[in-house]
Amino acid sequence: MSVLVTGGAGYIGSHVARLLGRDAIIVDDFSAGLESRVQGLICEHLDLASVEAPARLEALMRAHGVTAVVHLAARKKVGESVEQPEWYYSQNIGGMANLLTAMRAAGVQKLVFSSSAATYGMPDVELVSEDLTCSPINPYGETKLIGEWMANDAAKAWGLRHVNLRYFNVAGAGWPELADTAVANLIPIVFAALKAGEQPKVFGGDYPTPDGSCIRDYVHVLDLAKAHVAAIKYLDDQVRPHSTFNVGSGEGSSVFEVMNVIREVTGQNFEAEILPGRAGDPPKLCADVSRIEKTLSWRTEANLTEIVRSAWQAIN
Ligand SMILES: NC(=O)c1ccc[n+]([C@@H]2O[C@H](COP(=O)([O-])OP(=O)(O)OC[C@H]3O[C@@H](n4cnc5c(N)ncnc54)[C@H](O)[C@@H]3O)[C@@H](O)[C@H]2O)c1
Repeated sequence: MSVLVTGGAGYIGSHVARLLGRDAIIVDDFSAGLESRVQGLICEHLDLASVEAPARLEALMRAHGVTAVVHLAARKKVGESVEQPEWYYSQNIGGMANLLTAMRAAGVQKLVFSSSAATYGMPDVELVSEDLTCSPINPYGETKLIGEWMANDAAKAWGLRHVNLRYFNVAGAGWPELADTAVANLIPIVFAALKAGEQPKVFGGDYPTPDGSCIRDYVHVLDLAKAHVAAIKYLDDQVRPHSTFNVGSGEGSSVFEVMNVIREVTGQNFEAEILPGRAGDPPKLCADVSRIEKTLSWRTEANLTEIVRSAWQAIN
């Protein structure tokens, strides 16, 4: 059994590939991926959205007897997606179309797709369930929702067996060398500020939450990677009641709570600068995880302290 991992040199993809071991075949254009994360694995340098991608992917699938694909390769910067929507559509949706074309041609029927809580937009609920109507509020979230639709349509048209995993806030490191090197999410942003001797910034202290800061659901990247392995196994079941799953802990942590854990873990007693809230940041985004727990028998193991500690240790 070989599993094609697109975006396998990225932060999350390299954790999935590490769990799959020698079964993993990596496809990545290395625009954000690192060679050092995939040493010893078979790697194809390829832009999934390029004209040559369908033929090269099909050949790769046939050459390695690929039976399943985990599709993580995507552009993922919300602000950039607002500024360059057409490029996001061509990359994320064009890449998905090329991948599905190649899978169909090569007879590869199993797909695990990296979706996102960004598909939900600004839900005004305590816990977000998969049945909630999705209303993404930026092109990035839209490309993720359209990716889900494309997989759903391929399932109807030619029998694709697929799972859409909607990740919540991913952080931590399973292995130090696979750490998140992008300074885009709260925990890496605070670490980068501390390392530069600067004051960390928090966006918004007057949200309608108990302490006024935004609440998010954090999942350890290694737990998330294990959800992909569970999803691949699930695709062999004849009866599959669901194809879309939230991947989170089911528990919310506010930005101020995360700051406290960072103070404990780093031993640095900093004061954060509180800036105005950002448009489009929902006050609370927390997963209902009952479906994935029941159907895939998967749940998070690492708590917030373990997530922060693993991320800190990985960069020190
Ligand atoms: N990190 C998060 O918190 C989070 C949350 C929700 C969803 N996701 C999704 O998870 C997936 C992986 O995210 P990540 O955090 O590991 O990001 P990442 O940027 O570290 O990894 C993405 C990988 O895909 C590659 N890539 C991008 N576009 C490509 C293309 N057109 N062709 C080939 N390779 C391409 C990049 O080089 C990179 O190695 C993405 O689809 C992202 O949207 C991430």
